[in-house]
Amino acid sequence: MLSTYSDLAGRTAVITGGSRGIGAQTARMLAAQGVNVAIVGRDKNALDAVVAEIAAAGGTAVAAVADVTSAAALAEVRTLVQDRIGPVDILGAFAGGQGMPVPSADLSEARWRAVLDSDLTSSFLTVREFLPGMAERGRGSIITMSSSAGRQPSRANLAYGVANAGLIMMTRQLATEFGPHGVRVNAIAPSSIRTEKVAANMSEPVQRQVAGLHPMRRLGTTTDVAEAVLFLASDASCYLTGLTIDIAGGRITN
Ligand SMILES: NC(=O)c1ccc[n+]([C@@H]2O[C@H](COP(=O)([O-])OP(=O)(O)OC[C@H]3O[C@@H](n4cnc5c(N)ncnc54)[C@H](OP(=O)(O)O)[C@@H]3O)[C@@H](O)[C@H]2O)c1
Repeated sequence: MLSTYSDLAGRTAVITGGSRGIGAQTARMLAAQGVNVAIVGRDKNALDAVVAEIAAAGGTAVAAVADVTSAAALAEVRTLVQDRIGPVDILGAFAGGQGMPVPSADLSEARWRAVLDSDLTSSFLTVREFLPGMAERGRGSIITMSSSAGRQPSRANLAYGVANAGLIMMTRQLATEFGPHGVRVNAIAPSSIRTEKVAANMSEPVQRQVAGLHPMRRLGTTTDVAEAVLFLASDASCYLTGLTIDIAGGRITN
């Protein structure tokens, strides 16, 4: 970890998608700054492993098992988090990741709806659960997870691209609406990040090929993404809201 943000110590964060990949690394790095972190996912064992890792490093973390496409489950998460580590200052709505390529003509209605549910509606429901408390307390930083697939056409399926483009507008609109209440809302849009899943499913030659598409000639790391999240969570970015930050090694076309 490169950065230290002293204002983060003692704050409370919820990170959905915290059981693995980008969310897990973000949780580790927030905890290392002294943030009390709640991580949300469906896989209890994976969540418990991340919590144990954070605790072993001297941090505070709690696991909340929930499917973030369920508003009722998210309401339970908020109650649990409030009881265990207090009101939420930082929200990373990162759960999702249904980007697997499907030719658009073969994309079934069921798949379309499932991807929008997983990658767009879930973030709406998550933000809606935590925003009122932040607005009431007059402070908060929300970071939504878009993707380069929401910025430009890509190999990812059409529903994923549309969901991620929608997340950018959701972020801008919420930033406009909640700026007067002291809540900032920003999005991050990673390109190809070498998570455990990407490392396992993408062959080394393909990884090299994809790396070559980026001006910085490498895939991103989960730490690259988490560093941007820390900045957006911290008061270091206190006049930034409604933005989408491309974490793309320079592969930006708009
Ligand atoms: N990796 C990339 O290159 C990349 C690029 C751009 C954007 N992104 C976005 O970044 C986010 C994280 O991706 P990742 O690459 O770190 O993926 P990952 O390793 O597959 O992790 C996905 C995370 O989301 C959680 N999740 C998914 N659906 C959920 C649901 N319905 N309820 C609760 N938790 C759910 C998973 O939890 P469980 O497994 O415990 O359920 C897991 O923690 C995704 O939104 C993805 O679209 C990734």
